[in-house]
Amino acid sequence: MNPITCVLNGEALLTPPVWIMRQAGRYLPEYRALREKAGSFWALCENPELAAEATLMPVRRFGLDAAIVFSDILTIPQALGLTVRFSAEGPSIEPVTDFSRLCWDETGKVVLNPVYQALSLVRQKLDSSIALFGFAGAPWTLASYMVAGRGGDEQKAAKLMAYSDQVAFDRLLGVLTQAIAAHLVWQLQSGADVVQIFDSWAGGLSEVLFERCVLEPTKKVVTFVKDKIPEAKIVGFPRGTTLEGYRRYADETGIDAISLDTAVPPVWAAKNISLPVQGNLDPLALVTGKKTLETETERLLTAMKGRPFIFNLGHGIFPQTPVEHVEKLISLIRGF
Ligand code: CP3
Repeated sequence: MNPITCVLNGEALLTPPVWIMRQAGRYLPEYRALREKAGSFWALCENPELAAEATLMPVRRFGLDAAIVFSDILTIPQALGLTVRFSAEGPSIEPVTDFSRLCWDETGKVVLNPVYQALSLVRQKLDSSIALFGFAGAPWTLASYMVAGRGGDEQKAAKLMAYSDQVAFDRLLGVLTQAIAAHLVWQLQSGADVVQIFDSWAGGLSEVLFERCVLEPTKKVVTFVKDKIPEAKIVGFPRGTTLEGYRRYADETGIDAISLDTAVPPVWAAKNISLPVQGNLDPLALVTGKKTLETETERLLTAMKGRPFIFNLGHGIFPQTPVEHVEKLISLIRGF
């Protein structure tokens, strides 16, 4: 069994396994060259051979313990028939005028197919000691992108719709829940060992909206996936929520492990979270390197000693991160 799956089964390993959120990205010269060859980020996502290549690059270079399929959370809005664009300012989605028309049917699988093909290609080439992650955005995060047409602005548009047009918003969450659950099941059936749910905009919600838009839909996704595949392993990432939000998310959604953002104190997590945890080095400490990287890494490893733990960042790696800092991080973890 690979080390990541051991941790997800509750084992505390002497040397924690490590991977990095957004590990295949612009900080890697070989990724930039591959993106150039493909023409664009989206073209890369849609070509299974190239997506598999991008997935394997960071694993080969650094000897990480997991690969994560090269794709994006916004493939689901696309599979629901919307147009998604990536520009220098970040992604945008065609505005939806009538959410009642939106529905999930399995023809969306055609759009998502490159993800499944990339996963099976990667699985063939990947040593069995390395875990393969699939992923999806969470219902709330995808709904907030779809309502606003873009990220940011504290998800005001989505929160307003959740309050003022409750029926339509809950229906949107329901459609997304079905699509996300199906996408996770298909990824697990295509070779993923684990799937991660990214709720990147889970922060700043009132208690009522957190329950209604984060906890409930996530629990439904997890239940659906585990009904189909009882041995499925699921990691949840409710980025930016409160400590109480993290505790409830870990206790109430049915996930197998929780990924912590940078702001969660590791010692608090070790005391208050009963599930295996993943995280949460500040990605800026990885940019900084030097003594900061050493001190922060050791602090985290010390807090998580004796607990089932997967080393990761608290959010995605920054494009300006020097590649040598990633090498140093991995040797710090393995030499601890
Ligand atoms: O982690 C990995 O290496 C796997 C691939 C992956 C990507 N996006 C590739 C990507 C994963 C897991 C994601 C998830 C994702 N996408 C999230 C959730 C995680 C998080 O960061 O909170 C979100 C919110 C998105 C939406 C998205 N995609 C944004 C906001 C951006 C622009 C900002 C940025 O980092 O460039 C993207 C583009 C994107 N997704 C890139 C990559 C490698 C960069 C594209 C490029 O310029 O080549």
